[in-house]
Amino acid sequence: MKYDISNFTLEEKISLLCGKDNWRLETANGKVKEVFLSDGPSGLRKMVADVIPTLADVNSNKYKTIPATAMPTLSTIANTWSEEMAKLDGSTIADDCIENDVDVLLAPGVNIKKTPLNGRNFEYFSEDPYLSGVMGKAFIEGVQEKGIGTSLKHFLANNRELDRCFQTSEVDERTLREIYLLPFEIALKANPWTVMCSYNPINGIYASENKYFLKDVLRDEFKYDGLIVSDWGAVHSPYKAVKATLDLTMPYDDKFYDKIYIAYQEGLITEEEIDFAVQNVLNLIEKTENDKKKITLTKEERHANAVKIAKEGIVLLKNQDNILPITSGKTVVCGEESYNPTLGGKGSSLVTTDYKQTSIDKLLNDLSKGKAEFVKSVAIIKDGFYMEIADVLTYAHELDNVILCIGPQIIGEGYDKTSIRLSPRTEEYIREIAKINPNVVVCLYSGLAVDVSPWVDCVKGLVWAGYSGEGVNEALASILVGETSPSGKLAETLPINLENTPFYLNNGNANVSWYSEGIFVGYRYYEKYDKPVAYPFGFGLSYADFTYSNLRIEKHGELDYTVYYDITNNSNFDAKEVSQVYVKDILAMVIRPAKELKGFSKDLIKAKSTKTIRIKLDKRAFAYYNVCLKDWHVENGAFEIMVGSSSKDIKLKQKIDIKLPNSEQYSSSCKRHDK
Ligand code: BGC
Repeated sequence: MKYDISNFTLEEKISLLCGKDNWRLETANGKVKEVFLSDGPSGLRKMVADVIPTLADVNSNKYKTIPATAMPTLSTIANTWSEEMAKLDGSTIADDCIENDVDVLLAPGVNIKKTPLNGRNFEYFSEDPYLSGVMGKAFIEGVQEKGIGTSLKHFLANNRELDRCFQTSEVDERTLREIYLLPFEIALKANPWTVMCSYNPINGIYASENKYFLKDVLRDEFKYDGLIVSDWGAVHSPYKAVKATLDLTMPYDDKFYDKIYIAYQEGLITEEEIDFAVQNVLNLIEKTENDKKKITLTKEERHANAVKIAKEGIVLLKNQDNILPITSGKTVVCGEESYNPTLGGKGSSLVTTDYKQTSIDKLLNDLSKGKAEFVKSVAIIKDGFYMEIADVLTYAHELDNVILCIGPQIIGEGYDKTSIRLSPRTEEYIREIAKINPNVVVCLYSGLAVDVSPWVDCVKGLVWAGYSGEGVNEALASILVGETSPSGKLAETLPINLENTPFYLNNGNANVSWYSEGIFVGYRYYEKYDKPVAYPFGFGLSYADFTYSNLRIEKHGELDYTVYYDITNNSNFDAKEVSQVYVKDILAMVIRPAKELKGFSKDLIKAKSTKTIRIKLDKRAFAYYNVCLKDWHVENGAFEIMVGSSSKDIKLKQKIDIKLPNSEQYSSSCKRHDK
């Protein structure tokens, strides 16, 4: 230990528990190094001036941030289904941090996409806790391998922005364990240097002073020994927060010191409790003083990584008559996103990049090398706003295909959406063009789910560009002309309408965010209640044709299995495929989902060849959280193991029978084997 806590006065110790300003930590009269924290998940967002901006300032980007690489948002990272890409993303952002003297990156967020309306969904990975946790863990590893810290956020049950600082998230214990805590539990395996508590109360007690979740669950049960930092302004009572083992209050609060000192004098908080937090701050400072911080990528290489990741995160959703890739003919490209793409959402994750976008028609012409021709329409189409429609319609008449680059209005932190549809005029516009030329490909730039059902039947192609950072149009162009075979898959279901989403009836009231859909979030809901969706969880098309075969399941221990299956690429080019393993408890004493994701793999499969995929399953693949036992429990009986190219498209399945000793069972499930 470099810093000995006994060398600090009580005053110095208290000072270390609150930020010096918006981003820096205190130095205890110069006794410790100054540490700098900065957002965020879509690339480094370091503010130029040290001010404490209002939310409106943040959303308008009033206080400029230093230029950095605008990486794909975490929603696109999740659509890659690739731990390798998540790690690469993290290590690329780390280089920007090293270059700009940032010690801790305030990312990633692993909150679950409970509702498609959440204004911050683009900052999160998925509706599925396993996928969110695995991707979060890989991202953390990528950043921290370079000697830069991370902040796993927002702990806990922060799944909407509406009234986020006050609305209590009312969640039952099983749901918390299986859906909302699980991604944190998995990502914590990468030892993030910090965990950030959320703004909201959980079951009536603010996250920042919730001893049960911060101490009993996060520290004692999940064995987290790093630093817990507040979200910016999430602390209401400094001493209650410290007692709950929250170590660092951010940003600077001029009343913090006095409040702690008075609480100490009044015996409401002990010096031991203060020391516990101080020690965690000192440990963090020591971690930042490492010699791993070496920049390994040039600016150009960082941009190339942004493109590489975006290529794997863009999802091909519809390809009627193989309209894509476009390899011949004349195509008009329109929509403002084609030359001024949305790179990410607004708020604390907004990155300023100085990368100059090339319009996509130019990128397409360069890549297709004269085989196909792409022309730019002068029409400006942004959601709800269009001009010069006559120009596009003229082109649509004359040319072979129309590529429409559009997206809903950009959203961000602090607000939720009220609709998941494009504006009525944009929807009408798509239908109008498709009437004149049926060969329409829509490229959707969105960080939140969109209801495509009112117009998707009119178009032949649909590509989910997402919020994919500064490399989005280079990646998209590569996919549109077939240089890259698309390999992204949806990490979030696209619903057919808002009324069909699990959240719809559980909107709560002004004070409460009600989690009464329980564990039935995302595909767990649509499958259980047989609700139609536009595009299911895990869905994404490829230009290649894959066949799944030969499922084998090997048992190694009572609850340890290895699942093997083969994927053959029947096409004459190499391509990547994401395969998914789901598990179903066929007969359970408690209500369980129709299937749950328990493993996945993304593999490059060479042309005309077969690859064997191996997925390991352990106790957690079969268990549910039993609130009476206060533990994960597996019931004896039959389970179905399903291998799919999406949650809906199950290619292979097989049953296994779990027979744990009777001593580990309760009467109901024992009987199934006693008979
Ligand atoms: C956000 C956090 C962010 C912090 C610092 C808060 O408003 O919720 O995600 O890290 O600000 O910018």
